Amino acid sequence: MEILHVSAECYPVAKAGGLGDVVGALPKYQQASGHTAKVVMPMYRTKFLMDNEWDVVHKGYTNLGDWWFTYTVIKERTNKLGFDLYLLDINGLLDRDRIYGYSDDPQRFTAFQISVVDWISAWKHKPEIVHVHDHHAGLIPFMFRYCYRYKHLQNIPTILTIHNAEYQGWMGWDKSNYIPAWDEWKSGMLEWNNTINPLASGIKCAWKVTTVSHSYLDELKHNSNGLEALFEYEKGKSSGILNGIDTKVWDPAVDTYIQDHYSIEDYEEGKLRNKKILCDRFDLQIDKPLIVFIGRLVGEKGADLLPQAVGDSFYYIGRKMNFLILGSGFPAVEAQLNGLQALSRKDYSVYIGYNETLSHIMYAGADFILMPSRVEPCGLNQMYAMRYGTIPIVRNTGGLRDTVIDFGDPGGYGVRFNNTIVGDITQAIWRSVELYQRKEKMKEIREKIMQLDFSWETSVKQYLSLYESIVVQK
Ligand code: ADP
Ligand code: GLC
Repeated sequence: MEILHVSAECYPVAKAGGLGDVVGALPKYQQASGHTAKVVMPMYRTKFLMDNEWDVVHKGYTNLGDWWFTYTVIKERTNKLGFDLYLLDINGLLDRDRIYGYSDDPQRFTAFQISVVDWISAWKHKPEIVHVHDHHAGLIPFMFRYCYRYKHLQNIPTILTIHNAEYQGWMGWDKSNYIPAWDEWKSGMLEWNNTINPLASGIKCAWKVTTVSHSYLDELKHNSNGLEALFEYEKGKSSGILNGIDTKVWDPAVDTYIQDHYSIEDYEEGKLRNKKILCDRFDLQIDKPLIVFIGRLVGEKGADLLPQAVGDSFYYIGRKMNFLILGSGFPAVEAQLNGLQALSRKDYSVYIGYNETLSHIMYAGADFILMPSRVEPCGLNQMYAMRYGTIPIVRNTGGLRDTVIDFGDPGGYGVRFNNTIVGDITQAIWRSVELYQRKEKMKEIREKIMQLDFSWETSVKQYLSLYESIVVQK
């Protein structure tokens, strides 16, 4: 089967979070299982672009409303990622340093999607499945179905995978001229709550919708930033497929970002060596459990509660643990976390910013990883952490609920708590500090989590049967 993925991110080309990891891995594993998977994404100005060689495979001319532009599709020459990677360039619009966060993002991603559809129109043999990810590619199913000039694409089955329904790509109706002329009777298929809503449009128009965990799909019917009724209405074509992790990249035995490798045979020494690197660098104490947080410092991740949770843990539990935080996001949270440094007694540190290498050393050297997420569609951090023998402390939500069982339950191996409130977080930290004292139990849990199977193979099969179900319908 030939699958084309359309996404705003793909690791290692450009990554802002888990979407990049997934789009960098899923096609590779689909390819490995005998299918042809390709990825097309915007051509940002990245190191990967500069460091690699490219062939121009297509040049096209299309429009965003009144603005006519040329776009270029380039292909990486050596199949470095294990699948065909295409970057789409629109001069001045996409070739920027960052992925998101520009005031003209609606124009950027709409022009990107129109160009992708325009490019597919030129393919001799069309892909059998077009798999779009999140709102940045959410208008494509609509364009296939209802834009007059793309009518010939309406039989190509589309799948929308939702990695995060908080962001929906809303645009005012004054931007409706961006979208190539469509059957006006179908305007409702673009709309939600009086705006053009690319995510909602994708949910309505894609042949199938998936979310990145089962629990997240259930939660979206009650909590999805305004789309609750739509998720309830479209539940018949929706399903949850849990993400996997790229076990070739995320493996403490071969991880290229860490220097001290280890495996299940020598993890105790291996983890300790990595912990020492972190303790030396951040002035922490090696004999106390090391609890880390890695992620975007935003409300979804419960990051705003971290400063008080750290303070309360020290106050109520005592200075029995170290904290190390890596992330960036809300300036106020960054400032509070920086401010806490003044209170450190060699037991707290923070690194504000994005640092791939440091994140890998933290997965390897930490004892626990804290994820107090309010919303967590899947969450990759807890799965990476477990593969490195680091115990997850997670809120009972979304993918965290589907991948972590509390160690108090039969067969359990993590620490779970129910509410994103400081009291629950602090209690979970207390339970973790107590657990850390039980050396035998720690050993049992670590050996168990390092061997849990979160590989992509299972998910690849589930996506495939979903694809097959709609290709047959055609
Ligand atoms: P999300 O996509 O919602 O941010 P995920 O858990 O799916 O959450 O994936 C987050 C990914 O981004 C992981 O690979 C994590 O290690 C990485 N990450 C997040 N913040 C940082 C950071 N500040 N530095 C390095 N890596 C980070
Ligand atoms: C999103 C979600 C995260 C998920 C990732 C990959 O960014 O917030 O929970 O793991 O996408 O699907």
